[in-house]
Amino acid sequence: MPRRSSEAHRQFSVKPAAKDAAALIPPSPTLATLQQAARSCKACDLWKLGTQTVFGEGPARARVMFVGEQPGDSEDKAGHPFIGPAGRLLDEVLAEVGIDRAEVYVTNVVKHFKWVAAQRGKRRIHKKPRHSEIEACRPWLDAELQVVMPEVLVCLGASAAQALLGKDFRVTRDHGTLMKSDLVPYVTGTTHPASILRAPDPEAREQQRKDFVRDLKKVSELIRRERKASAA
Ligand code: URA
Repeated sequence: MPRRSSEAHRQFSVKPAAKDAAALIPPSPTLATLQQAARSCKACDLWKLGTQTVFGEGPARARVMFVGEQPGDSEDKAGHPFIGPAGRLLDEVLAEVGIDRAEVYVTNVVKHFKWVAAQRGKRRIHKKPRHSEIEACRPWLDAELQVVMPEVLVCLGASAAQALLGKDFRVTRDHGTLMKSDLVPYVTGTTHPASILRAPDPEAREQQRKDFVRDLKKVSELIRRERKASAA
């Protein structure tokens, strides 16, 4: 992934939600009541495709929240986010930069798996969610943010970054920039681990992985500093 140049100081503000699942959000929500309410969400048509709603998971007071695009095939079957190949790569890199997966909250901008059947065989092929599906699901993410109140929000990949930070965000150009925001103290965007796994050749994969490690190291250093500051 090329490094950013003179555009590194570009600022992004977190965009508000539009038409959606807002009516389903329980009063004074907790993660447990949100997860329960989201099980029957029909705010867009993706509930017809997915096996189940895959809600976010992690401690209610996590300092870091990771937001991906949508659950994949394994997540859809198991009902847990980031447990398939992309999740395993995320775990590996988190361990490498000194972030404990058990201390972070992981979720997606869309909570149902969107897929099309492979032309041959039984495979379900991931399909990118539409803007309207992301917007319909957005109240769940806003509610998760309100409950967890992370110090850092990490958008994994273009779908999450553009949903939260606007269409001008380019992962290739803007990845790893830690920005202050009014929704959470810091927000950043980086590559999606699934796109590292899909890299066209081993060199590209290695380079993307290195960039991913570098971006998450910044997050790790930031939370270490914040932890020290709050203990002082
Ligand atoms: N990709 C995502 O964006 N989210 C998951 O939960 C798994 C794979």
